[in-house]
Amino acid sequence: MKILVTGGAGFIGSNFIKYWLNKYHKDQIINLDKLTYAGNLQNLKDIEDNPNYEFVKGDICDKDLVMKLTKDVDLIVHFAAESHVDRSIDGPEEFVKTNVEGTLVLLEAALANGSIRFHHISTDEVFGELPLDDPNAKFHEKMPYAPRSVYSASKAASDHLVRAYHATHKLPVTISNCSNNYGPYQYPEKLIPLVITRAIEGQELPVYGEGNQVRDWIHVEDHCRGIELCITKGELGETYLFGGNGEKENIWIVKKILELLEKPQDLIVHVGDRKGHDLRYAIDFSKAQKELGYEPSKSIDQWLKDTVEWYVENEDWWKPLKKKADVLAEKYLEKRIK
Ligand SMILES: NC(=O)c1ccc[n+]([C@@H]2O[C@H](COP(=O)([O-])OP(=O)(O)OC[C@H]3O[C@@H](n4cnc5c(N)ncnc54)[C@H](O)[C@@H]3O)[C@@H](O)[C@H]2O)c1
Repeated sequence: MKILVTGGAGFIGSNFIKYWLNKYHKDQIINLDKLTYAGNLQNLKDIEDNPNYEFVKGDICDKDLVMKLTKDVDLIVHFAAESHVDRSIDGPEEFVKTNVEGTLVLLEAALANGSIRFHHISTDEVFGELPLDDPNAKFHEKMPYAPRSVYSASKAASDHLVRAYHATHKLPVTISNCSNNYGPYQYPEKLIPLVITRAIEGQELPVYGEGNQVRDWIHVEDHCRGIELCITKGELGETYLFGGNGEKENIWIVKKILELLEKPQDLIVHVGDRKGHDLRYAIDFSKAQKELGYEPSKSIDQWLKDTVEWYVENEDWWKPLKKKADVLAEKYLEKRIK
């Protein structure tokens, strides 16, 4: 099988390419990535000489390039996106361009080139937020969309486009929406790698508000397996939600990382909250359990320990990225709550 992966130089996409090639040795993968600040070819260093892997630097909004690359592929797995909520507050245009227009370009190419099988990666943030005081409330596939940030609104729009191509043209699609990912090769501006890398260096750790926002953390390897299950067993036109059984307050995550690294808790600095910060995300993934046989493979405690160890052992990977990520961290720290 020949696969076009978009955004494969980013965090989840690069983990997915390696996951897939490790299991399906004969498949060929083309990785189309624009290499924004979040794209990093170092993530794929160990497979760059694999004859079944090819990297193409380019934009998913480039119609001619996308049309050319999809000529003879059997499957498109679409990760490419602007993905950081904070960046969508200050620079919304790029989010609409890549996440909405880029998805449309890919769908048109999939249709024009013989109705190519299309798997779209999305987020649970399209459902908005859940209250903190109702632990039984969870996102599920039948819930109405209620995005609250430009990031989630642009992802919601892209999900609707994918569904529209299935309903209108019978394009063979599946969609997965999952919760916050963590694991190797995550750009150190996101909470878990930011905390780990700054804590290793003994730097202050900005935490939004009291840190009581709840996320259902999923390890990237579990997410990759979920995507594989959608591709191999998913019903066309269907959406599947994936979670990691890892519902935790942000402050729990930060304290746990400090504990694992044996660093002092007083590195934590509470800072003014993000505008419109969603309170809680939690996922009911019973549909994926029942229909695809999906289960998270380890507890969050175990996965978090593995993740901390990975960053400790892979300083060469994150050190060159840290300066840029620190700029954002320092911006948060300017809003420290006295
Ligand atoms: N990280 C999470 O916790 C999470 C959770 C749920 C869903 N998702 C979704 O998973 C996907 C991947 O997320 P991630 O965390 O790996 O993101 P990331 O920011 O690490 O990577 C995104 C990649 O897309 C590339 N890209 C951006 N714009 C492009 C364009 N116009 N053309 C081609 N390539 C472009 C970037 O260079 C980068 O390599 C996204 O669609 C995101 O919405 C992420």
